[in-house]
Amino acid sequence: MKVLVIGGAGYIGAHVAKAFLEAGAKVAVYDDLSTGHKTNLFGGTDFIEGNILDYERLKSAMEQGIDAVVHLAAKKAVGESMENPELYASNNVSGMVNILNAMSACRVKVLVFSSSAAVYGMPEYLPVDENHPLKPINFYGFTKLECERLMDWYDRLKGIKYTALRYFNAAGYDASGAVRGRDAKPQNLLPIIKEVVDKKRECLLVFGDDYDTRDGTCVRDYVHVSDLAAAHLAAVRRLLEGKPSAIYNLGTSRGETVKEVVAATEKVIGRPLPVRFVPRRPGDPAVLVASNEKAKKELGWQPAYTDIEDIIKTELL
Ligand code: WQD
Repeated sequence: MKVLVIGGAGYIGAHVAKAFLEAGAKVAVYDDLSTGHKTNLFGGTDFIEGNILDYERLKSAMEQGIDAVVHLAAKKAVGESMENPELYASNNVSGMVNILNAMSACRVKVLVFSSSAAVYGMPEYLPVDENHPLKPINFYGFTKLECERLMDWYDRLKGIKYTALRYFNAAGYDASGAVRGRDAKPQNLLPIIKEVVDKKRECLLVFGDDYDTRDGTCVRDYVHVSDLAAAHLAAVRRLLEGKPSAIYNLGTSRGETVKEVVAATEKVIGRPLPVRFVPRRPGDPAVLVASNEKAKKELGWQPAYTDIEDIIKTELL
């Protein structure tokens, strides 16, 4: 099996590339290194430096007998997507059009796409399953949904089979420390906590403690990145077996509050974590937890990391 991992030098992409290499697949990584890192490229990987807006380069990367494409190259900062929608429309939506057109031209028939729980918007019921209404509340989530819809049409019109994997809160790092490159300006809870632990940041600002949850802070479904990576491998294998296109939530179905994540971090590091409570951040749902029954049943996926403390340990490596 030869797989083209687009965005394979990034956070989740590097873990995905590693999972495919370990499964004996041939891996080519296509990445523009805008947020990815060369240090995240493993031995045995072909590397093509390129942007997904460069259709010709994408096409030449796919002309070399690719069985499947895994697409993880996207802009992913929710706040930035609201301030600079043009950037998100170009990168996320036009980039996807280019990938689909290149696949169509090169007759590559299998695509696994990194989607997001952001396609659902504010949860109307919990846990959120794949049939939940799709009402994104930020432009980032809208671009992911548009990508899913594009894939659906290219399936019908061009026979490209796809799997959209809707990640909940991706967290942690490869336990062996193999993935070293990290986001320069982290925006998510666990990478920010790591900066506080490393004393690069004075304290963690907790956004709101007056939510209707067990301790007043928001509940999220933190899913380990190596578990996400394993799901990509299972999804590609399933499509190569000839199964139809599908959409899966990837979460643990557990939820931790921000205070619980802080307490678990303090247990891991053996000292208090400096924390300051500040008002709510706009757009944050109180609780967001996945139903992962469909991925378990159809992909045979079972998250190996079930304990937030173990996830945090790998984040702090
Ligand atoms: C987690 C919890 C915050 C930072 C986002 C996107 C989502 C997906 C994943 C890409 C929340 C709280 C955070 C901080 C805090 N992105 N928090 N202080 O918002 O659940 O999901 O990333 O696909 O689309 O919306 O993740 O890590 O920002 O926040 O108190 O400094 O931590 O309020 O409850 P979020 P997050």
